[in-house]
Amino acid sequence: MTPGSQAAVLVTGGAGYIGAHTAKALAERGYRPVVYDDLSAGFREAVRWGPLVRGDIRDEAALRAAMSEHGVAAVVHFAGLIEVARSVSDPGPFWDVNVSGTRALLAAMQAAGVPRLVFSSTAAVYGQAGRAAGDLISEDDEKAPSSPYGDTKLAAERMIAAHCRAHGLTAVALRYFNASGADPSGVIGEAHEPETHLIPLALAAGLGDGRPLTLFGDDFDTADGTCLRDYVHVNDLAAAHVAAVGAELAGGTFEAMNLGAGRGHSVREVVAAAARALGRPVPHAIGPRRAGDPPSLVADPSRARSRLGWEPARSDLDTIVRDALRWEAQPAYAAGGRASRRGEAK
Ligand code: UFG
Repeated sequence: MTPGSQAAVLVTGGAGYIGAHTAKALAERGYRPVVYDDLSAGFREAVRWGPLVRGDIRDEAALRAAMSEHGVAAVVHFAGLIEVARSVSDPGPFWDVNVSGTRALLAAMQAAGVPRLVFSSTAAVYGQAGRAAGDLISEDDEKAPSSPYGDTKLAAERMIAAHCRAHGLTAVALRYFNASGADPSGVIGEAHEPETHLIPLALAAGLGDGRPLTLFGDDFDTADGTCLRDYVHVNDLAAAHVAAVGAELAGGTFEAMNLGAGRGHSVREVVAAAARALGRPVPHAIGPRRAGDPPSLVADPSRARSRLGWEPARSDLDTIVRDALRWEAQPAYAAGGRASRRGEAK
């Protein structure tokens, strides 16, 4: 499938953060994104580049109907539950939505004869597994998820890989490190309910629109004692999905690829970048560690570079934080998320 072909691409979870940015990027490269989303976490306002089919990811018949109605040629699969802490306290729905949902999708693709899948995976499949702070993680490193969220994403990857071997599907699993930033247009951005991610919370605190930030631990074995993460701009992630949809890969291939900038930033460095972007300090205090946080997650992104020709263009920390601030100061949608930042009940 080539860019400019107007081929229809089903984007499950396309009303969510990374899904909406990918739908926009697909449209810009001449594909027709068809969003499939139940709007349980996504936003109607984020579906702007093609039709919305409202449906549950576990509903095989509805998926199949959407694929035939729109003549879908490939699927990009984001729909799923993403909150690590919730997966620890209530794992059942994660296995149901992330694993059974992927199973239903694979069955529908097989029935409809859709040959290509790009799967939204995560650095959470790796866990910490004996790495020193700052060590780069490559795709073949040990997988030791530290949460049920990571377990379900790894299980879904393995199910997809088996499906490729058995049925000739071609699939790419993209393992994101820390998705961040927002499209510079200001029409879509990060809006989670509840918001748990560092950059939006730091900016909300600095804008006076949220609680003071709590840094989850400063006693990790890293240079400044706070966790290292690899922040990658959501538009760079979107570009990788578009490349994976069009990549020349033999039928039956399954490939997993890291998407990160290949550079670690500490929580303190992120807080400093937020203060630079805001031109004022970010009120913060040190709190206890958060359960399940690995000290260091930094990607070796060389496989995505060589296989997809992927080169991050906006993933330096200051650009990410500036783009995030433009959105955070004036989000086009996000009411619930903003209330949750102020600590108000839903
Ligand atoms: N952090 C704080 N205070 C906060 C929020 C976050 O100190 O209020 C810290 C975290 O402890 C962590 C870093 O900021 O060290 C980044 O935290 P985020 O919540 O922004 O992101 P995570 O690294 O926890 O999450 C990312 C992805 C998940 C994925 C996970 C794997 O968003 O999908 O990595 O560990 F599962």
